[in-house]
Amino acid sequence: MASDTAIGIHDLSFATTEFVLPHTALADHNGTEIGKYHIGIGQQSMSVPAADEDIVTMGAAAAAPIIARHGAEGIRTVVFATESSIDQAKAAGVYVHSLLGLPSATRVVELKQACYGATAALQFAIGLVHRNPEHRVLVIASDVSKYELDSPGEATQGAAAVAMLVGADPALVRIEEPSGLFTADVMDFWRPNYRDAALVDGQESITAYLQAAQGTWKDYAEQGGRALDEFSAFCYHQPFTKMAYKAHRHLLNYCGHEVDEARVARDLGRTTAYNAVVGNSYTASVYLALAALLDQADDMTGQAIGFLSYGSGSVAEFFAGTVVPGYREHLRTEANREAIDRRKPVDYAGYRELHQRSFPADGGEYATPSQTGGPFRLAGLNGHKRLYERRR
Ligand code: HMG
Repeated sequence: MASDTAIGIHDLSFATTEFVLPHTALADHNGTEIGKYHIGIGQQSMSVPAADEDIVTMGAAAAAPIIARHGAEGIRTVVFATESSIDQAKAAGVYVHSLLGLPSATRVVELKQACYGATAALQFAIGLVHRNPEHRVLVIASDVSKYELDSPGEATQGAAAVAMLVGADPALVRIEEPSGLFTADVMDFWRPNYRDAALVDGQESITAYLQAAQGTWKDYAEQGGRALDEFSAFCYHQPFTKMAYKAHRHLLNYCGHEVDEARVARDLGRTTAYNAVVGNSYTASVYLALAALLDQADDMTGQAIGFLSYGSGSVAEFFAGTVVPGYREHLRTEANREAIDRRKPVDYAGYRELHQRSFPADGGEYATPSQTGGPFRLAGLNGHKRLYERRR
């Protein structure tokens, strides 16, 4: 048994949507001063799914390059984390398993706890690899963040998927023990089963996030974790990028550090580039922050990264990772930029139409308009069954 085996993230790939709505278009529509979006919440644009995209198509698009690079051998578990589930019973990962042609000798399951789910998936994956170091786990975090039109939350929508291959002797980031943990029963953000847009108490959600950040750090310190000064960067859950700054300042204060803005910028500045243009991708957000950091930072070999994962409701976890020598050869920087740059701008009317789309309630035969240029699409419905296609 391998309790001292290095385990962590061996590969990381992400996908986002066909369309993008610049915040300038939203501001023109609702008369908001653009500084509130660009500076106040730190967002430039948001990814908008096409009619034939969903968490499955994005999850498959994120995972396909990982299978292409490493093959499926050894992947005996797929964990799909999401809070924008498409079915109350069937795991979205089963569709992805099929679209990617993974072997039948695989366990597939879906996990949920708001934006925190992917971190639970990562930690459970590490446990499985500890049990058998030959085992590799495909973790997929895929979400569409949707709030009511003309609500304060609207500016913090977005959508993306991150896929991570978790295994022994990882090529990118080794995940360390201990973790700091925190759970509190709060109603800051939730989505009852009969709604497709989330309900949120915005200011309460910010307070809940800050309390959770403090609580999980307190536990992390009590478990014997690293000191704050040992970290070179921090990847926070970023519902909007300014939230990471609020949380980090809060943590520095809590730890009795001067809040020195140059230090805050050094700790966070390299982690926000993807989230600022994609928007809130819920479960994927903290790992998009990691992708941005690794893609943009100078050599981070051997450096420690702090991860703060928060999911409303609420559950949070703080943990550390160390960047592995040679990691730069395994990055997907060009593909990541291409995933962002290939999106087509949609105007406000087009975005609004996509936002209001829904499937026919009778679940009858229905063909989805062909809009995405991505490798997978949701072709339609028949007999309440979702029909997916792989194009390449
Ligand atoms: P709001 O009421 O529209 O905005 O809600 P505001 O009035 O609070 O302004 C936002 C910031 O912009 C403020 O800065 C303003 O001063 C500034 P702050 O005081 O916070 O530093 N501002 C300007 N700055 C420059 N130029 C200007 C200007 N005007 C104003 N002209 C809120 C904002 C985030 C609450 C809203 O968008 C919302 O409800 N979003 C959804 C909830 C959310 O994202 N919560 C975050 C924490 S909870 C979380 O992370 C979990 C989550 O991801 C879900 C999950 O776990 O599943 C959401």
